[in-house]
Amino acid sequence: MNHRANFYLQLVSPDHPVELVPADQDLIPAFKAFPDILMERYAAFALQALINRLHADGQIVPVSGFRTQQEQQKIWDDTVKQSGLAYTKKYVAIPGCSEHQTGLAIDLALNKEKIDFICPSFPNEGVCRQFQQLAPFYGFILRYPEGKEQVTKIGWEPWHFRYVGTPHAQIISAHNLTLEEYLLHTYISKACAR
Ligand code: DAL
Ligand code: ZN
Repeated sequence: MNHRANFYLQLVSPDHPVELVPADQDLIPAFKAFPDILMERYAAFALQALINRLHADGQIVPVSGFRTQQEQQKIWDDTVKQSGLAYTKKYVAIPGCSEHQTGLAIDLALNKEKIDFICPSFPNEGVCRQFQQLAPFYGFILRYPEGKEQVTKIGWEPWHFRYVGTPHAQIISAHNLTLEEYLLHTYISKACAR
């Protein structure tokens, strides 16, 4: 597996701090109308292709993309102050352990007048549902599914998509796996093949 493949498949979770961060020149805006919301270049290209395919520009909007350690820390601190520790632990990754720090994660919302920054609305209907259904074909997984909270140690987040590339995203979603489970399966299969 080459270095880039490792980058796209990296596990970032409360138990696995971020190890591989993107170079500045590899971060680009995923949506032209939101120049401050950045993603890793190939994740951004894939997202643009999916949004174009669905003619969803303007209907689906980005809420949060790449974050530095300092930005994640500020989001954590502000959320603890505003909503308490239990809520924060459920919906905000510990600073140093957020996928947003890799540039491979994006929070998306259905475009409305009021969009919640921590828990944006991304309903399982209409264009958002179509996005979720097609996302794996463009390399994206719903990273924190309902019912897998014990595995991911994060609450259900229908708005948070993570780029892992294809065919990984297709396999993960077809088998209702989390990234943790997929990587464990891959690891076990490799160990058995030795
Ligand atoms: N909302 C996700 C867990 C994060 O902060 O990275
Ligand atoms: Zn997110």
